[in-house]
Amino acid sequence: MKLSILLLIGVFLLELLSAADGQCSRRCTALGSYYVWRGSNLSFVSQMMQVEIATILSYNPQIPNQDSVLADTRVNVPFSCGCLPSRQYLGHLFNFSTSSGDTYDLIARTYYSNLTTIDSLQAFNTYPAWNIPDTGVNINVPVNCTCGDQNVSPEYGLFVTYPLRSGESLESVTASNFLSLDLVRRYNSGNNVSDSGVIFIPGRDQNGNYPPLIPSSRSGLSTGAIAGVSVAAVVAVALFAGCLYVVLRRRKNAKKVQFLSSSSSYEDHSLQADSAGTRSSPLVGITVEKSVEFPYDELAKATDNFSIANKIGEGGFGAVYYAELRGEKAAIKKMDMQADREFLAELRVLTRVHHLNLVRLIGYCVEGSLFLVYEYIENGNLSQHLRSSGREPLPWSTRVQIALDSARGLEYIHEHTVPVYIHRDIKPANILIDTNFHAKVADFGLTKLTEVGSNSLPTGRLVGTFGYMPPEYAQYGDVSPKVDVYAFGVVLYELISAKEAIVKDASSATDSRGLVALFEEVLSKPEPNEDLRKLVDSRLGDNYPLDSVQKMAQLARACTHEAPQLRPSMRSIVVALMTLSSATEDWDVGNFYGNHSLVNLVSGR
Ligand SMILES: Nc1ncnc2c1ncn2[C@@H]1O[C@H](COP(=O)(O)OP(=O)(O)OP(=O)(O)O)[C@@H](O)[C@H]1O
Ligand SMILES: *[C@@H]1O[C@H](CO)[C@@H](O)[C@H](O)[C@H]1NC(C)=O
Ligand SMILES: *[C@@H]1O[C@H](CO)[C@@H](O)[C@H](O)[C@H]1NC(C)=O
Ligand SMILES: *[C@@H]1O[C@H](CO)[C@@H](O)[C@H](O)[C@H]1NC(C)=O
Repeated sequence: MKLSILLLIGVFLLELLSAADGQCSRRCTALGSYYVWRGSNLSFVSQMMQVEIATILSYNPQIPNQDSVLADTRVNVPFSCGCLPSRQYLGHLFNFSTSSGDTYDLIARTYYSNLTTIDSLQAFNTYPAWNIPDTGVNINVPVNCTCGDQNVSPEYGLFVTYPLRSGESLESVTASNFLSLDLVRRYNSGNNVSDSGVIFIPGRDQNGNYPPLIPSSRSGLSTGAIAGVSVAAVVAVALFAGCLYVVLRRRKNAKKVQFLSSSSSYEDHSLQADSAGTRSSPLVGITVEKSVEFPYDELAKATDNFSIANKIGEGGFGAVYYAELRGEKAAIKKMDMQADREFLAELRVLTRVHHLNLVRLIGYCVEGSLFLVYEYIENGNLSQHLRSSGREPLPWSTRVQIALDSARGLEYIHEHTVPVYIHRDIKPANILIDTNFHAKVADFGLTKLTEVGSNSLPTGRLVGTFGYMPPEYAQYGDVSPKVDVYAFGVVLYELISAKEAIVKDASSATDSRGLVALFEEVLSKPEPNEDLRKLVDSRLGDNYPLDSVQKMAQLARACTHEAPQLRPSMRSIVVALMTLSSATEDWDVGNFYGNHSLVNLVSGR
């Protein structure tokens, strides 16, 4: 008894010591490459790796749904990576509960797909290999991981623990992931590959990006520990909250994939149709400006051959690359589809829509795939600003400004372009932020393009993202500008709360609810203010005028009204936000100089 307490204290002290050690002071998310053997399935993987299926799916866009057959393929499974108890290296201890017939061999080579080894299992468990208790005892299953290394490259902060299979080598895996061999070798230099058979390679996050290394705060024990705990908490919350959103998103992407493959026969002749068609098209003579059509070579050169290093994002229709094109910064979207004649005509129209609050389409290229060239917006998308822990929280006045900017962009396409556009995919990922924290709406006109290109598709395909679709659209496919108004209302709620459009219910593992319902419940109360405060993004602290939040919430509520005809137009939304914006500026000034926000608020009215 006493001995075990002593042992516990010892382990605890060792843990503290090792946490202080540089190598082992980090914590991060890591991925395990699970080779799915025949007879296994995602729910088994999810059970072994103690993570929800939806979360696994979010890291594996190649898997269409959770029921698909995966045997003999790999899936990346996220887990938290930290210092192993009483060890000087990073890993994670999974818990495995035995049943009859289980052996270390079976656990390592089958259940954990060689992510661990028999030797390591023996090192972390007291049961001798020949005598593992039959039922219900917990076996510690150690899986190694890494969080990256500032000295190798600051570009990579997420790593896959990858058990090599026979026939695979560090070289072959590196090559098939289009990574630099030299780089991957350096990450594995301290690791005797032939011994453990596990290598570390940079991995992609849920957005398909290679996340960079977040510098670790190298200081005393307590900050290390606090950072560890808070990073873990942030990761847990992010994983948790992301779950349902991700399931829905998967469904949507699956739909897109299906659309792309089912349209391949039509793609085959589309280019011919185009090259034959451009000359005869009546539109072309008037609208074609040669400068909007870029040769492929020029785009390839501008993006370093569409290198991974230049990749800045991935959407439902393809990857986005950073480019330096004719001396200007640009973002090039490589679409997984090809353009036909109508599509091109539409694109040419789009290149002529200019507005301060719309991301400008500079041009395109149709050699091989379809490439869209956009002006580059420096400062990421709104979703990142609201929810990425690496970003400073947006002050309230900036949030109002971003709302107003996006509303202006939408108003423009709803009312002032010919033809008029409905965006249909308004969400924070499509609102880009520039260096001055002004917002620009991205991707408008694209849903129309995909429609133009979808003549041969089954009808009833919805463009858009769950959580942002109004009932009349989700149920009946009714399209009107009020579809955008509804989605914009959801964005307003996100600006207030920084929550996702679909919020995972903390009290239940499976339930989730829309942000709209969450706010509706609060706003329909006779005295909503107290509860409204609880919904405000905690990163704002007390630095917001409740009055302004209240008004924005009321506006959002009107935008998300069930009946489309009762939602305001973008024009009146712009007017409302202008009023709010000038009031908020006053508040900022008052807050800054007087530091009596409430007094100023009250007297300001
Ligand atoms: N013009 C741009 N300038 C800078 N970054 C951009 C630009 N366009 C896109 N990005 C980045 O690339 C990401 C992916 O963009 P994309 O529009 O393809 O996908 P999405 O909006 O996330 O999803 P979806 O295709 O479903 O609309 C964006 O969220 C943004 O971070
Ligand atoms: C998933 O795999 C496990 C392990 O092989 C098996 O016991 C279970 O029945 C499978 N479940 C489904 C739904 O196929
Ligand atoms: C694990 O490794 C062993 C020995 O190399 C191999 O026989 C087995 O198939 C591997 N298991 C998986 C799931 O890849
Ligand atoms: C994990 O790393 C340690 C230290 O490098 C090594 O001794 C051990 O064998 C590795 N375990 C596995 C399961 O790869």
